[in-house]
Amino acid sequence: MTIPTSMQAIVAREPGGPEVLVLAERPVPTPGPGEVLVRVHAAGVNRPDVMQREGRARPAPGVTDVLGLEAAGEVAAIGPGVQRLQAGSRVMALLPGGGYAPWCIAPANHCLPMPAGLDFADAGALPEGLFTVWHNLFELGALKMGETVLIHGAAGGIGTLAIRMAHAAGARVIATAGRTERLADLKAMGAVEALCYKQTDFVAVCREATGGRGVDVVLDMVGGDYVKRNFEALAFGGRHLSLSFLQGSQVNIELLTLMQKQLSLHSSTLRPQTDDEKTRMARLIERHVLPLVADRRIRPRVHQSLPLADAARAHRLLEAGEVFGKLVLVP
Ligand SMILES: NC(=O)c1ccc[n+]([C@@H]2O[C@H](COP(=O)([O-])OP(=O)(O)OC[C@H]3O[C@@H](n4cnc5c(N)ncnc54)[C@H](OP(=O)(O)O)[C@@H]3O)[C@@H](O)[C@H]2O)c1
Repeated sequence: MTIPTSMQAIVAREPGGPEVLVLAERPVPTPGPGEVLVRVHAAGVNRPDVMQREGRARPAPGVTDVLGLEAAGEVAAIGPGVQRLQAGSRVMALLPGGGYAPWCIAPANHCLPMPAGLDFADAGALPEGLFTVWHNLFELGALKMGETVLIHGAAGGIGTLAIRMAHAAGARVIATAGRTERLADLKAMGAVEALCYKQTDFVAVCREATGGRGVDVVLDMVGGDYVKRNFEALAFGGRHLSLSFLQGSQVNIELLTLMQKQLSLHSSTLRPQTDDEKTRMARLIERHVLPLVADRRIRPRVHQSLPLADAARAHRLLEAGEVFGKLVLVP
């Protein structure tokens, strides 16, 4: 594989709307110890990319200003000390940044092998969701077979994958979305109930679907007034997982409800987790989840693939709520 010295990659030229995303010339990076250079075939678009573009989230010090937290491609070069990958390996990489580019650097330990038969578009849409859903639903939330989970934002990138991962694990899923026309598809993906939160009270649906008991786990990215209602929807001993707060981060929590129902609250963000934590998760995902990806029981819902140069359009579509599942950018 011939590796050029420079490339055109997407950066935000200043904090702002989608129009600030531009192609800029950057050197093709050289992998350092423990890193690989990946020839990117597809890069997933995530909501945190929007926050970075707006200047509300920053890459860690020393990390490239090129956007993109996940990519799929082929390893083109390996850095010192890398044992587990070689040139030509097909990988799905969780990235500290840099995915919106034809070439990117990935920590070798945060790369997952691409199962045979998976195409690059699907593979590029997976890493951020696999790590996020694995850590939240199964590590923090300890979701088990036969339990019921309420998934908010179910039509989004994280939500659609969460439905499939929970369903594959034998859990019952109740999914919420803002558009009625998406509900049938959410059920086809594995939800036992799918409701439009603009028309239907999710607390009532959760109670009805569980014989009045409530759900065991809530995956929440809405925050705001949802939290109180999530507590109402939870069963005794339920677990509440906060991924984000699309409706606001300030909430009033009724401790009495929390204590009487013995609820537990969990929250996390993936990006600032340590390298060791991400490595630990990567090996567990490889062992427990990738076999289900390989046999197609778990797969992403890719809404559309767009050329890399259309990154601004991708962000406009995401922010307008037009994306059902994930967008991927193809260099
Ligand atoms: N903590 C972590 O480690 C982590 C990792 C990745 C992502 N995240 C966060 O998780 C969230 C989802 O990420 P994503 O990439 O899946 O984004 P996404 O594809 O844009 O999905 C977000 C979904 O949330 C729903 N939504 C938006 N505003 C809402 C509101 N006010 N009330 C109710 N639902 C609303 C939308 O569904 P409808 O159009 O159907 O309303 C949308 O499908 C983002 O906020 C992201 O920052 C957190």
